[in-house]
Amino acid sequence: MTRYFATCARGLEAVLAAELTKLGAAAVEPGRGGVAFRGDAALVYRANLWLRTAVRVLRPVLEADVRSPDELYDAVRTVDWSEYLSPSHTLAVDCNVRDSAITHSQYAARRVKDAVCDQFRERTGVRPSVDPERPMVGFNLHVHRDVATLSLDSSWDSLHKRGYRPIQTVAPLNEALAAGLLLHAGWDPATPLADPLCGSGTFCVEGAWLALNRAPGLTRKWFGFQGWPGFDRELWNAVRDDARAAVRKALPAPVLGGDVHPGAVDLARQNARSAGVGHLVRIDRRDVADARPPAGAPPGVVICNPPYGERIGEEKEWYGLYAALGEVVGRHWPGWRLLVFTSNDRLARRVGLPVRGRAPFFNGKLACHLWEFGGG
Ligand SMILES: C[S@@+](CC[C@H](N)C(=O)[O-])C[C@H]1O[C@@H](n2cnc3c(N)ncnc32)[C@H](O)[C@@H]1O
Repeated sequence: MTRYFATCARGLEAVLAAELTKLGAAAVEPGRGGVAFRGDAALVYRANLWLRTAVRVLRPVLEADVRSPDELYDAVRTVDWSEYLSPSHTLAVDCNVRDSAITHSQYAARRVKDAVCDQFRERTGVRPSVDPERPMVGFNLHVHRDVATLSLDSSWDSLHKRGYRPIQTVAPLNEALAAGLLLHAGWDPATPLADPLCGSGTFCVEGAWLALNRAPGLTRKWFGFQGWPGFDRELWNAVRDDARAAVRKALPAPVLGGDVHPGAVDLARQNARSAGVGHLVRIDRRDVADARPPAGAPPGVVICNPPYGERIGEEKEWYGLYAALGEVVGRHWPGWRLLVFTSNDRLARRVGLPVRGRAPFFNGKLACHLWEFGGG
């Protein structure tokens, strides 16, 4: 069994570890910003297709202490690359560096590419060529505190790119983070879900997919492992067919979205349609103050990420919105849990309901919390 490392947004490691365990991964070990595990080819295909919270699934090949681009080059030369690709494969190197003597990530990436290509040229007279967009073998180089980890990237494009969301106009929540927050919250998909500040509808779509048992990678056209030597097309087709057969046709409980902004409502509806759930998810144009639970349904979860007011002076503009959210849920949504994702603690406290919990996450570089309030 091969060793892998699935990366995720910080705060989601435990959720990702639970997802991997459910998929049958072995030696699952949560770390910082990801989870190590072991598995075979079928597992890595299923991980890319099914993981809702992972950013990418990496296969580490080399770990080395490096203090300069030349040391990096020498370390990469120690690997026998013929095990992983041939000169007829295209390649690309994606690199990030942090807190290290090597500071220039593009140059570091070039040194890795040179080391691999030079080895092939010396041994065979032919060098692999570079395809930065869709390489057959994509490398991921991570340099942190002078330790370089070089991996093959089995995902290549980030897994949060599900394929249902086109270019955005509003500030949307990352799909993997939205799904992760729902999983972290322990939302039971047999109960309703509502996002009264739904923006582009990310919580609604991810919630509907969870409830339908729909693999988040089903609409994607390409995963990195599809270009690897030894890619097993039959096995991949079987894994995908199983996932298609597992999709439920109907939601067990309502999934609802609302937004005051007509443009957001259009966008959320359009995204729900491209995600194949346009006929299942209801999106209404409505001010949060007028949000009401679906008639006849049992209590469920209200989840949202209201505007944060990141720029100075903006915060006060949103006091009323957070207060209105707390008031409407407290008064009209008896028994529902209210979950609010925000970077701003002062705004969160304006909700005014008893705080039941507060869990830290990162939205990109922004430290945020998922607050849980006692509902009505
Ligand atoms: C940060 S965005 C939510 C982004 C969303 N989670 C997504 O993934 O696209 C906040 C949303 O709250 C909406 N909003 C602001 N004030 C509102 C109000 N009074 N009633 C309903 N929606 C409101 C905005 O139009 C905006 O779409």
